[in-house]
Amino acid sequence: MDKIILTGDRPTGKLHIGHYVGSLRERVKLQESGEFKKIFIMIADAQALTDNFDNPEKIRASIKEVALDYLGVGLNPEKSVIFIQSQIPALAELTMYYMNLVTVARLSRNPTVKSEIQMRNFEANIPTGFLCYPISQAADITAFNATTVPVGEDQKPMIEQTREIVRKFNEIYEPVLTEPDILLSSNKSCLRLPGTDGKAKMSKSLGNCIYLSDSAEDVAKKVKSMYTDPTHIKVSDPGHIEGNTVFTYLDAFSKEEQFKKYLPEYNNLDELKEHYKKGGLGDVKIKKFLNAVLEEELSTIRERRREYEKDEAFVYDMLKKGTEIAREEAAKTLENVKKAMKIDYFSLS
Ligand code: TRP
Repeated sequence: MDKIILTGDRPTGKLHIGHYVGSLRERVKLQESGEFKKIFIMIADAQALTDNFDNPEKIRASIKEVALDYLGVGLNPEKSVIFIQSQIPALAELTMYYMNLVTVARLSRNPTVKSEIQMRNFEANIPTGFLCYPISQAADITAFNATTVPVGEDQKPMIEQTREIVRKFNEIYEPVLTEPDILLSSNKSCLRLPGTDGKAKMSKSLGNCIYLSDSAEDVAKKVKSMYTDPTHIKVSDPGHIEGNTVFTYLDAFSKEEQFKKYLPEYNNLDELKEHYKKGGLGDVKIKKFLNAVLEEELSTIRERRREYEKDEAFVYDMLKKGTEIAREEAAKTLENVKKAMKIDYFSLS
């Protein structure tokens, strides 16, 4: 079977390094692997509106930011189709038919939906569109016959929900839908990168993000004030690695060859960790190293992003072309779905 990727992001602001290590970096690798027949990358504006329906300006402005972040990290429109969700009418139709296959109880049990409802104080007043977004996500994935969905760990329940819908659809109607697999980063520290303040999640509202578009000065400032180990007061004090943001980021970003270049007195991260645990290694030194490590990756992204920023017409043209390709692809699946459901009244074949 041909391997096909579909994945995407909600446009609710600029993307940060949590998105990067959790998913974007992986996507670029997959793009370059040549293993996939097709790659679809979707800007999920319709999904973003399910909990931002009262802030359309934010979503609209974020489309461009996310597209620039994509181009910045190295997604290549010649190899990956980048498109906008709301412009694909078949997705809305598929969502409607899949709704018949999912109970309200099942949606309410979805752990990601549950925690998002809490976060947004939706408990008493859940918008129907929001409750149903896992169904619309199943439409996104199946419309492109995706076999592989590279996402962050928080998306596990969404892919599980999609698989259930596919199995049910194929069983009741005809086996026309593809059951997708989730693809998670093999690096544990990449699954959920904490914020610079050590809080579990990097999030705009907490102000603890490093953005892909941050300047070198901003990154340096954020690294300097990053949360480490509050019990490690004097350089000579023994330190803790667990829950120490600097080390989690080093786990996610550093490569062995960078030790030779920046910290030749250590062979690798394990040796650095051992020294920190024993005592005698100061936070300033590890933060300087982290900053150098981050800059190696972020400076390329930042510069490429700035180049594309100058050419807004190119960015919108790319989105338009990608959207046209995606529209055709999704329309084919919708046709198969309608045929399987016996609602293809006027088709001649
Ligand atoms: N739910 C994803 C997120 O919040 C975005 C998304 C929408 C998505 N549809 C998708 C991801 C389909 C993968 C596949 O980041």
